[in-house]
Amino acid sequence: MALTRLLPRPHARAGTDREPAVARVIAFANQKGGVAKTTTTLNLGAALVEKGLRVLAVDLDPQGNLTMSQGWNPDEIDRSMFDVLVHKLPITEIIRNGEVDVAVSSIDLAGAELALSSMIGRERALEKALLPVRESYDFVLIDTPPSLGLLTINALVAATGVIVPVQCEYLSLRGLVQLENTLSMIRENLNPVVEIQGILPTMYDKRLLHSREAVEILKENFGDLVLNTRIRKTVRYAEAPVKGQSVLKYDPTGEAADMYRDLAKEVLDGASARLNA
Ligand SMILES: Nc1ncnc2c1ncn2[C@@H]1O[C@H](COP(=O)(O)OP(=O)(O)OP(=O)(O)O)[C@@H](O)[C@H]1O
Ligand SMILES: [Mg+2]
Repeated sequence: MALTRLLPRPHARAGTDREPAVARVIAFANQKGGVAKTTTTLNLGAALVEKGLRVLAVDLDPQGNLTMSQGWNPDEIDRSMFDVLVHKLPITEIIRNGEVDVAVSSIDLAGAELALSSMIGRERALEKALLPVRESYDFVLIDTPPSLGLLTINALVAATGVIVPVQCEYLSLRGLVQLENTLSMIRENLNPVVEIQGILPTMYDKRLLHSREAVEILKENFGDLVLNTRIRKTVRYAEAPVKGQSVLKYDPTGEAADMYRDLAKEVLDGASARLNA
């Protein structure tokens, strides 16, 4: 078989020629907690929707924060990603329509690691579940829990790219090296195309030397992988989910929304640069 047959189909340029549209699947991963994985999944998603793109956000975290941030209570959800991954329920059955479409999570998902661990193909459950909807969306964005367990591995196997949010205050380079090691194991064994697409500095405070230094250290270690967009620190990001909204809806003209619009632009520009390479 020609090598090209083994490579993924090129993606349609987002927002222009829609045929053949195959979603780009981006996982947001960092095993450190509280670095803005969920905030980034929802708000980048909302910014892409604002640009006319079709977005599915997958809540792969048993904490259900992404689900909550669109106003749904994970405790009141009957069927969730747990049923999709473990009982092969079609993902379309649990997708809810919010600002972005969300494949919802509930606390049940905490049992998925154990339930999946004895199943054949346990690392590919999410990849398989996404197959029927990959042509219905331009982007599938996967929010992962703060660990490198089987749920996150499922996300990395299903993904074409990974965006790693990193909190500028508590930079953990060791954590990033561990994530890279996991990714190279996944590339060798399960998904040859997955790569870090960008490292996103979050909670950046340009007045603080510490924040600026953190970005410098990231650049010294990861070079061009560090995205140009900086997500600055503002309380808007904590306020919006309480209302069940993205910052783009909560405060459409504020700088918090603009920063995720900038990120959307950078992600789309990166995609077309790769297509034209
Ligand atoms: N740029 C920011 N400035 C200030 N606060 C932020 C920013 N981004 C996110 N936050 C807040 O920080 C907290 C953690 O963010 P978030 O839940 O997105 O992180 P996470 O990486 O998904 O966490 P977990 O690992 O627990 O899933 C939330 O209360 C969120 O509202
Ligand atoms: Mg989260």
